[in-house]
Amino acid sequence: MADQLSTTVHGEAQHPPQRDLYLPRRADILEIVEETPQERLLRLKMADGVPLGHKPGQFVQVCCFGIGEAPISMASAADASGTFDLCVRRVGNVTGALHKTVVGDTVGIRGPYGNGFPLETLADRDLLIIGGGIGLVPLRGLIQAILAQRELYRKVTILYGFKRPEEMLFRDELAAWGAREDVDLRLTIDRAHPDWSGHVGVITTLFPDLALDAAMTKAIVVGPPIMYQFVITECRLKGIADENILLSLERHMKCGVGKCGHCQINGKYCCLDGPVFSFSELKYLWEAI
Ligand SMILES: Cc1cc2nc3c(=O)[nH]c(=O)nc-3n(C[C@H](O)[C@H](O)[C@H](O)COP(=O)(O)OP(=O)(O)OC[C@H]3O[C@@H](n4cnc5c(N)ncnc54)[C@H](O)[C@@H]3O)c2cc1C
Ligand code: FES
Repeated sequence: MADQLSTTVHGEAQHPPQRDLYLPRRADILEIVEETPQERLLRLKMADGVPLGHKPGQFVQVCCFGIGEAPISMASAADASGTFDLCVRRVGNVTGALHKTVVGDTVGIRGPYGNGFPLETLADRDLLIIGGGIGLVPLRGLIQAILAQRELYRKVTILYGFKRPEEMLFRDELAAWGAREDVDLRLTIDRAHPDWSGHVGVITTLFPDLALDAAMTKAIVVGPPIMYQFVITECRLKGIADENILLSLERHMKCGVGKCGHCQINGKYCCLDGPVFSFSELKYLWEAI
């Protein structure tokens, strides 16, 4: 107790600064899969053997020593092996360095941070999971967790849209999900392509064929910012209530723990209060979407 509440000032408990707040733990890279020309999956394990204990939808700050840190979503559900996956798109300094790593390299990890998807509120509901592009990364962990306890959930529908066939992530897993009788998986690419014989059109073009029980449905949406307003409109037209539309937001982050203000959206901290919000929380928040 002395460690947690050491002093009182004017009768109020004062929390001492949390130790090691910015000190990363080491994690070893066990496996690397080149998912697409731009995205690679890293399978990691904490070097001290203590699992992260993360929830789907949370993120970690990944540190490339001497270069910097970047927030990256947990791409897998927690399991008994203690390993976890991150899927990284190469866009700049840190993500570029992560694309140069090899098996056996070590990175720093802070976290897990953020609220994650509220799995407990998804039980006994129909789930409409909507991913655009790299938005499938955090959803993969969610889908793994749902399928590990499939009996807790009702209908599971997954919509995944991407620009070109070569940008499709997690091909083997998508094939496995699509082969299940208890999952309705629908894929689409934005524009026709000679290597693609499936549905063509932006992700909202999958909505007209969906038969939903709106009152029982929770929609979980992760994708590029431009996708949100159109997908939210379709969900609302289908009758899904705003509090049942969940969105994961991406903002520039530095600390990841509510100290620096980089991720602030009015009174909300994306790193602490999010990154997962319901649309009812966001709709009156200026510039949230
Ligand atoms: C909660 C959260 C989860 C994320 N999950 C993933 C993930 O699973 N996989 C993944 O590949 N990326 C993810 N990102 C995005 C990732 O954090 C950024 O791409 C990364 O910080 C870029 O760092 P960098 O040093 O490589 O790029 P920099 O060299 O810092 O910048 C390169 C370019 O990217 C832009 N940029 C940097 N950060 C962001 C950002 N957060 N949003 C938009 N543009 C940015 C810069 O303005 C610049 O134009 C996530 C971001 C957040 C906030
Ligand atoms: S990233 Fe620093 S407050 Fe959210």
